[in-house]
Amino acid sequence: MDEFIAGLPKCELHLHIEGTLEPELSFELAKRNGLTLPHRTVEEARAAFTFDSLTTFLVGYYEGMNVLLKEPDFYDLAMAYLAKAAAQNVRYAEIFFDPQAHTSRGVPFDVVIRGLRRAVLDAERLHGVRAQLIMCFLRDFSAGYAMATLLESLPYREWIVGVGLDSDERGNPPAKFEKVFARAREEGYLLTMHCDVDQEDSTEHIRQVLQVIGVDRIDHGVNALDDPALVEEIKRRGLGLTVCPVSNGFVTDGSKADAIRRMLDLDLRVTINSDDPAYFRAYVAENLQLVSDELGLSREDLVRLERNAFEIAWLPRAVKDAFLTELDTYARSSR
Ligand code: HPA
Ligand code: ZN
Repeated sequence: MDEFIAGLPKCELHLHIEGTLEPELSFELAKRNGLTLPHRTVEEARAAFTFDSLTTFLVGYYEGMNVLLKEPDFYDLAMAYLAKAAAQNVRYAEIFFDPQAHTSRGVPFDVVIRGLRRAVLDAERLHGVRAQLIMCFLRDFSAGYAMATLLESLPYREWIVGVGLDSDERGNPPAKFEKVFARAREEGYLLTMHCDVDQEDSTEHIRQVLQVIGVDRIDHGVNALDDPALVEEIKRRGLGLTVCPVSNGFVTDGSKADAIRRMLDLDLRVTINSDDPAYFRAYVAENLQLVSDELGLSREDLVRLERNAFEIAWLPRAVKDAFLTELDTYARSSR
């Protein structure tokens, strides 16, 4: 199954570019920018990074970003991820970025977006992997700051396919950003939001993303299974869910593989993704492997997970179809 997973054409839809910052690159960027890191070696840095909840994870995640200052830093970060993704046969990735995690430190929006955009273009040419960017607002900052960030993004509208919402969900419900997302929709952005797993008010937040925000996709969203009415509505709208098994194991109590099985059985458009692979030490292939091991997935199940992902990807129909044909050809040839 390892070999089948390795060759499987993949589509990654839940990936924070800042969560791909490996300690090796951190040290390189720190040196380049004349900064001193709190740890002396890569091994020390890895060992020191421990967490057991979304809140404690986010502390280290934001601290890690301090080495990202200049346009080439963002370029190198995204190129490193895209090269690794291509090596795992990721054919297409939708990449989250957190502009406010940088503008709040004095790094201009323009620096962030130009570095990432240049990497997206070069990676397609050099590694044959296609990607698009999704701008996330930080939900623990104000709605006003999110709106200002949305307006700041408009000159780069063509480089960004949609907007999302991430960071600490506790006390920061989707409805807080109703106006921001309504405006984003008017500007032609597609909409997604994190509904992290086993949060306080998880099911109420999923209700809000459906009824108040009107999202085009849900990130995580595993707790929808707690309420049959939510499952029904997600199915009715054909919405996809971007589940991140290894990440779940860190921030809650296990991979939620059983929930993924239930979602497949309910015919929900569930997908498997890596979230913050440098911190969780698992890129998308390792996430697929974990679920496959825990559930004893068949090849057909694995193909179905990737088919779901290409189907819900924010791509024109003809491009999706080309990827789906590639996936079908692989499935047939490795029977
Ligand atoms: N949830 C919320 N915020 C995040 C995450 C996540 O999984 N990863 C990076 N920022
Ligand atoms: Zn996430």
